[in-house]
Amino acid sequence: MVKTTLSIIKADVGSLAGHHVVHADLIKSAEGSLRAAKDSGLLFDYRVTNCGDDLELIMTHRKGEDNDEIHKMAWNTFSKAACIAKDLGLYAAGQDLLSDACSGNLKGMGPGFTEIEFEERASEPLVVFMADKTEPGAFNLPLYKIFADPFSSAGLVIDPSMHDGFIFEVLDVIEGNLYEISTPEEAYDLLALIGTTGRYILKRIMRKGDRLTAASVSITKLSLIAGKYVGKDDPVAIVRAQHGLPAVGEILEPFSFPHLVAGWMRGSHYGPMMPVAQRDAKCSRFDGPPRFMAYGFQVKDSKLVGPADLFDDPAFDYTRWKALEVADYMRRHGPFMPGRLGPEEMEYTTLPLVMKKLSGRLKKE
Ligand code: F6R
Ligand code: MG
Ligand code: MG
Repeated sequence: MVKTTLSIIKADVGSLAGHHVVHADLIKSAEGSLRAAKDSGLLFDYRVTNCGDDLELIMTHRKGEDNDEIHKMAWNTFSKAACIAKDLGLYAAGQDLLSDACSGNLKGMGPGFTEIEFEERASEPLVVFMADKTEPGAFNLPLYKIFADPFSSAGLVIDPSMHDGFIFEVLDVIEGNLYEISTPEEAYDLLALIGTTGRYILKRIMRKGDRLTAASVSITKLSLIAGKYVGKDDPVAIVRAQHGLPAVGEILEPFSFPHLVAGWMRGSHYGPMMPVAQRDAKCSRFDGPPRFMAYGFQVKDSKLVGPADLFDDPAFDYTRWKALEVADYMRRHGPFMPGRLGPEEMEYTTLPLVMKKLSGRLKKE
């Protein structure tokens, strides 16, 4: 049976008005690169979009996950767009391209990516999530609810093929360890880890029994790769839907709660997750609040049908208003925690400088 691979690869290679939005010329350039890759037979299909300042490549092919040709082609697509960004004088041009060239795999090179290789079911609906001004751990809470919370996903209780539960792969980004945790029986163990969203990140979710991959999240930690802050690791995720997997509505349901995520202003503040239509995926107030987009597709013979812009719906208006109220509340904290992140998680800090300055006039209490 032929297998299709869906690859979502993204990078911030420069943007208009600070870290606000990808310029139309970069989208056009990326579309040209992917069209050429399709004409050459490498890609079966593609869509190019942006979530805020992140250029997003949504691609189908038959080369499998972690394929050098696909990764290199994505790198070249970003490099070309970065040149245009430089010519236009866009902000942070080339930011996420951490080296001069890409020899094959994008791991550790700057761009974020997530991929699933799968045998297409009779009908293959799925949702691609893209986020700006946050980190991969921002998906921990909604993914837990989708695949393990029966108060959110009715199918966990009443669909026989979901009733056994799911297996969660968790990555400890500090130690590099992978854990496989099975729900519902180990749900509390899972929560004990993934509640620490900056460290334990949901990487992949599989259905019990057949181990069908149901979801996958990009886990690039740019700050750790470079050993210093070089840009947000704004994440992307794929969630497959229906017919023995969560329904599209169950996948969207947890996003009705604007939970607090890390990554607002200078990667150093908590802000509410705001679900938005693509046209509103551009951060403004205090470089935020953090935005999430959801594109729904059908995949047929490795071709993409769609997207449906799933958060472009008044059903999420209340969440957006709530998010704005929470944004206001969080901003009132100014430089104080928990509006600001803890010192170990901040991407910008003057603390060492301040400590050095004060060290000369220390007195013991
Ligand atoms: C970038 C981001 C922004 C920047 C901020 C300062 O994705 O989230 O909040 O951190 O605009 O940017 P610089 O240091 O480039 O002036
Ligand atoms: Mg940026
Ligand atoms: Mg971004």
